[in-house]
Formats: sequence, C-alpha cells, structure tokens
Amino acid sequence: MSTWIRENTLNWIQLMAVKVLKTGSVPKHVAFIMDGNRRYANKNGVKKVEGHTKGVSKFCFRFDKLAETLQWCLELGIPEVTVYAFSIENFKRSEEEVNGLMELARQKFQNLLDEREKLMEHGVCIRAIGNLSLIPKDVQKLIAEAMIITKNNNRAYLNVAFSYTSRDEITNAVKDVVGGVVRGNIMTEDINEELISECLYTNHSPEPDLVIRTSGEVRFSDFLLWQTTCSCIYFTEVLWPEFTVWDLLAAVFYYQRCYTDLEAVKYTRRSAFLNNNNSNNRVNNFVTELQRDRESMLEKMSLGLAQT
Ligand code: FPP
Ligand code: MG
Repeated sequence: MSTWIRENTLNWIQLMAVKVLKTGSVPKHVAFIMDGNRRYANKNGVKKVEGHTKGVSKFCFRFDKLAETLQWCLELGIPEVTVYAFSIENFKRSEEEVNGLMELARQKFQNLLDEREKLMEHGVCIRAIGNLSLIPKDVQKLIAEAMIITKNNNRAYLNVAFSYTSRDEITNAVKDVVGGVVRGNIMTEDINEELISECLYTNHSPEPDLVIRTSGEVRFSDFLLWQTTCSCIYFTEVLWPEFTVWDLLAAVFYYQRCYTDLEAVKYTRRSAFLNNNNSNNRVNNFVTELQRDRESMLEKMSLGLAQT
C-alpha cells in the first residue's frame, strides 16, 4: 500500500547536503505546483491517468513521490507544505482524466485515514483548501474526515489544494465579507486586506516562503495569487514524477540566496500592516463565526449530510 508517512530514504551524501543547508535559513512553508505528469506519461508511454498516479507513486503505487517530497521537507525542517493537487480548471479535462484524478484522491485520502495512527504519532495536520462543493460527495466525506481527525495536530501541516483556484478563493472570500456587511455583522470600513486574508481558505497558514513549479512552465496557474507577493518563486525544468531531493535542495539554496531581499520586502509590508490595522471586536466576532460555520460544514460533509 502506498503510504503518506514514510521513513527516511536519504543516503549519507544527501543527508550531509541537508545538514549543510540547515545551517542557513530554511523556509517554514513551501508550496508545490506539481506539473508535468502527462508529459512524463507520454514520454514513458503510460496512460494519462497513470501519469498522475506516478506523480504520487514513482513505481506504480509503491513509491510515493508526494510522500517522498513531504519526507524530504520534514528532514529539512520545513513544517508546512502546500500542494496543488487539482485545479478547478482541471474539471475541463476529459471525463476519463477527471474521473481518474478523483479516483486517485479517493484512494489517497482513504490511505490517509487507514494510517491515521501514524498521522497522529507524527503530529501531521491535513487541510484541504478549495471549493469542495464541486467534487463528488464520497471524496468530500473522506477529505472532511481526514481534516477533522488531524485538526489539532501541530508538528507538520500539509495543505492539499483540491478543486482550487485563487480567483475562486478570492470570490468566495468577497461573498463572505459582503454577506457580513449585509447582515450588519461588520461595516464597510472594516474591510481591508487583513479581513480578506482571514476569509481565504488559507486563513490558518502563514504565506509560503518558497513556491516551486516543476516542468518548465513559467506561470502561476491561479495558485495562491493573494498569498505569494513576498514569496521566492523557483521554476525548474524537471517533470514532477522525476523530481528528486537534489531538485528540492537546489530550490532551498536558491531561496537562501534571495533570503535577505525577501525579508526586507516582508519587513516593509509588516510595517505598513501595523500602521493600517483596524481590527476590532466586530471584525474578530465575524471571523470567529465564519470559522465556526466552516467547521460545521466540514462536520456535515464528514457525515455525508452537506447540502452542496
Ligand atoms: C499537473 O500535471 C498536475 C495535476 C493536474 C495534478 C497532480 C496531482 C498529483 C501529482 C497528486 C495528487 C494527490 C492527491 C492526494 C490527489 P499535468 O496533468 O498538467 O501534466 P502536463 O503539464 O504534462 O500536461
Ligand atoms: Mg500542466
């Protein structure tokens, strides 16, 4: 069975390289656009859906690329990872491919639940970010269950962007804010960048320090557009199923070279925020209630009762 939580697979040279990089600044949150699965499939003569499976399992369901990458991140001391697993745009692909990707999610989230003890032991918190109302009910249920049982874990965070685009995320945040104004819970003058951030799917997470996109495409594809103004962006030619620990180390090394400039940009932004922050009880209550509503929606999903 392919597993999300793996034991260390690095050899001593790789471990040495990890140790050296850890003497510098290591990103606390890394986001991945895992691109190039179909090109890998075509290059290697495998069916499209299998290309995606290999994006997770290097050797057909045995060697799990995503879990492998998560393990490397843990070795490096990176506590939070976000992966772009399924974009809302991906629904426009062929029925066969969409069904194959949903089946992949079904299998992987079921695996996650099957190994819940390991997840708890390692303190891994799983969060899905995205518009879950667009996906099949049984997949919603598995995802919601995984989120609920791991919600209090705090040693490592894995955010799976599933049925996600930034524009959808921002649109939903705006709808929530407008709803709050219409109901009289908040005032128009309460609306600022901080409030929008609190209404995003990613409201629990710090912004990514480093974004890695594989496959040579130099685009964001509607991924975390709001959250990446101060992030270091690393594009690499390698296709996702061929991504190695050396590619990850190269990305972290690139981040370390950009670190001073990035910190300066972050500092300026933090100062502007402190000067403009007008959060008050009204806003705090609104945000708390929004979180409560989202949690109860998740509970309903986990019981298969959500009306979506
Ligand atoms: C883009 O490659 C990648 C995706 C659409 C999804 C990739 C997802 C995984 C590797 C794992 C998903 C994990 C879970 C838990 C569901 P592409 O199809 O655009 O490839 P191409 O750029 O070569 O066409
Ligand atoms: Mg692609």
